[in-house]
Amino acid sequence: MKFFLDTADITEIREANATGLLDGVTTNPSLIKKAGREFFEVISEIAAEVDGPVSAETVAHDHETMLLEGLKCAEIAKNIAVKVPLTMEGLKTCKALRARGIMVNVTLCFSANQALLAAKAGASFISPFVGRHDDVGFDGMELIEDIRLIYDNYGFDTEILVASVRHPTHILESARIGADVATMPWSAMQKLFNHPLTTNGLAGFDKDWAATGFSIL
Ligand code: E4P
Repeated sequence: MKFFLDTADITEIREANATGLLDGVTTNPSLIKKAGREFFEVISEIAAEVDGPVSAETVAHDHETMLLEGLKCAEIAKNIAVKVPLTMEGLKTCKALRARGIMVNVTLCFSANQALLAAKAGASFISPFVGRHDDVGFDGMELIEDIRLIYDNYGFDTEILVASVRHPTHILESARIGADVATMPWSAMQKLFNHPLTTNGLAGFDKDWAATGFSIL
């Protein structure tokens, strides 16, 4: 499963990239606001830092304007995936951008039927929001299971990009189901490295090693 970071914070992206485990980045208008930097400046910097896809989200609601925005975003770098909303206008734009060979991430997906439409529109990525689904009393991971089943039934190559990830259990469940990508905050990715038995085990080895008086270097 690929790991994307869901942030527009270049410092977090650099830290995650230094692990060698980062496969891409997703951003959205709220994350751009949080980063407090000019859109094109920050997206260009992220796209230069990361080898994999970097999602840049359009903001228009109508197809014609959204397409112009998408084309402008795609000019930033070869690894830009234009993000469009899961609306009729968004899917028209998805189809038009894909016809030009541009990667498209269809966002704000909350049902398996919506995911089916996105795949039919040729989306490179579908972003179902599991955390926001959980927030309103549904099971976000059930949605991922349904989308996996439907995409496999018909051999769609749209990648399932699990979004709105809040904690390591979302990531574990995504991997169990066979999602292609999980996009997560840096805080959630960092938690994956930790286990109390690893910490305790290391402390025990440190203590015993110090008692031997040996040195490796
Ligand atoms: C994904 O592409 C979205 O930007 C993101 O995962 C939304 O997450 P949130 O529900 O934590 O805002």
